[in-house]
Amino acid sequence: MMLFGKTLVITGVASGIGRRTAELALQLGAEVIGIDRTRPDQPLGQFLAGDLSTAEGVAGIVAAIPDGIDALCNVAGVSGQTGAAHTLAVNVFGLKALSEGLAPKLRQAGAVVNVASIAGYGWRQNIARARAIARMGGFPDPVRAALDHGITDANAYPVSKEILLVWTILAAHQPLFRAKGIRVNSVSPGPVTTPILTQFRLVLGDSKVDGDISRVGRPGTAADIAPVILFLCSDAARWINGTNIANDGGLEASLNAEVLDL
Ligand SMILES: NC(=O)c1ccc[n+]([C@@H]2O[C@H](COP(=O)([O-])OP(=O)(O)OC[C@H]3O[C@@H](n4cnc5c(N)ncnc54)[C@H](O)[C@@H]3O)[C@@H](O)[C@H]2O)c1
Repeated sequence: MMLFGKTLVITGVASGIGRRTAELALQLGAEVIGIDRTRPDQPLGQFLAGDLSTAEGVAGIVAAIPDGIDALCNVAGVSGQTGAAHTLAVNVFGLKALSEGLAPKLRQAGAVVNVASIAGYGWRQNIARARAIARMGGFPDPVRAALDHGITDANAYPVSKEILLVWTILAAHQPLFRAKGIRVNSVSPGPVTTPILTQFRLVLGDSKVDGDISRVGRPGTAADIAPVILFLCSDAARWINGTNIANDGGLEASLNAEVLDL
């Protein structure tokens, strides 16, 4: 998979999956514009400091990005530890606002790749809430949205990923993207050894995280996830649109087998 001549915008570039995605994209010949609220400790292409948790932060990032980008990788995310409103703001509203703001700067037949999670597994079960929030336009007030939809600090992370999975499906058919042939897909990792996993242990509990890891034998690494994100950015995925790729060692299959009594 070669990415020569392509320019990728990658959020969450200072750590974990975003950092590995940027490293691999550079190795495959891409130009990278990395975004994070924290400066990476090593240079990884061009870097733009920015905060995805507010409308102003997103507007600043959009204004600084040139026309003609090939793909946007929405990797940045928070664990839920900072509360429901902040988690919704970063994982959903900031991600959507950035994607919609950059749509005019994405080339024809470009790509958006969202990093969701196996934590969003319950989206079908909770479809009314996920649909209502995924359909909200602009950058909604995250405090209001959390209150209106019963999103608590405890469930904010899984709910944010449920909404993101639903928005990925909707966005593939949203005229803003579809009119330019921009594909919108997601990758859902299982537990991956990065700094956020330590926070998941605090928010979700060790037994949940260890239970998920034992279902598949080992935790993932950022290097397991990065190639799949870049595949979805590449022309090799030119007919893949509005879908989610589970990248979890078989965790989703294991849950499906249990839930569907296979
Ligand atoms: N690690 C896992 O177990 C796991 C599992 C499933 C999904 N994910 C998802 O993968 C993505 C990447 O996570 P990771 O494991 O690399 O975690 P990480 O904590 O190592 O990296 C997240 C990055 O996002 C950045 N970020 C957070 N809030 C931001 C904001 N407001 N503005 C700009 N940047 C911001 C952070 O500074 C950090 O560099 C997240 O969306 C996460 O939900 C991770």
